[in-house]
Amino acid sequence: MTVAYAPGKVILFGEHAVVYGQPAIAVPVTQVKAKATVEIDPGGQGITIIAEDTEQSYFLEQASPDDALRAIVVSTLEHIGVGTKQGLTIAVSSTIPMARGLGSGAAVSTAIARALGNHFQNLGSVHPLSSYVISDLVYETEKIHHGTPSGIDNTVIAFEKPVYFVKDQKMEIFSVKSPFLLAIADTGIASPTKIAVSHVRRAWEREREKYEEIFDEIGTIAEMGRQAIEQGEIETVGQLMNENHRLLQLIGVSSPELEGLVEAARQGGALGAKLSGAGRGGNIIALVTQETRSRVSMMLRLAGAKEVIVTEVV
Ligand code: PMV
Repeated sequence: MTVAYAPGKVILFGEHAVVYGQPAIAVPVTQVKAKATVEIDPGGQGITIIAEDTEQSYFLEQASPDDALRAIVVSTLEHIGVGTKQGLTIAVSSTIPMARGLGSGAAVSTAIARALGNHFQNLGSVHPLSSYVISDLVYETEKIHHGTPSGIDNTVIAFEKPVYFVKDQKMEIFSVKSPFLLAIADTGIASPTKIAVSHVRRAWEREREKYEEIFDEIGTIAEMGRQAIEQGEIETVGQLMNENHRLLQLIGVSSPELEGLVEAARQGGALGAKLSGAGRGGNIIALVTQETRSRVSMMLRLAGAKEVIVTEVV
């Protein structure tokens, strides 16, 4: 049996604006992960997919073409150069909450692509699949869920490193001078990315100039954020998070629940806080220190957070 994992992620700066060509920064979250296993099914003629969390099991051949698990299996096998007519059982599970901006879909796809790559590599059929290849394969699958994904999720999850990302242009892995802590707090409200992105698109179509100015400002914050992280200026990172959140409010993707958590984190002593990902639900992130992490986590829970994870960005 071959096993592979992929982490979750959060967007630190630049969500939404990234869809319009501005830079964004995302970091992996290793406290939560997706897992995929690939096993040979002796005598089997086809592929069985088991989604352990929902206790579903089905044959690849019978899955609908917009089934995301089917899509990543088919495209990965095509890339490897083997067909789907072989006896394999692929099982997936994930501890990453779905539709909360933590990249659950991209992580599940990444784990599957990686597990298949490792499986055929162990059989001697192929070279290892590079993170670049895995990221591209996952991007194609992301389109099923997201419509017009920027590509940031698949990139940060496949590379498992902080990334500076510009859609269709570049992906840079950059260094974190002084590791820092993020508290990630869940509103408990599922917010499909596709819906939030199309809401912003409609607003942008109505008021292009206003929205593009805001996207420009968000892009500048993402650039400054990268510099601050590279130079270890953690307080500046916090200020930029606050500023980015203000701009996300202006484009209409915050919500009373997100505001409540952002406010609670700041009151608890966070150096900065913002919504993360598509918004309207999902998570907020707060910049905390060893000294403030417990207090901020407690304040977030008191303010209604369903889950608080503290992760270190290194
Ligand atoms: O998947 P989420 O919730 O982290 O949101 C993705 C971020 C967006 O910028 C809103 C969309 C995208 O494709 O980059």
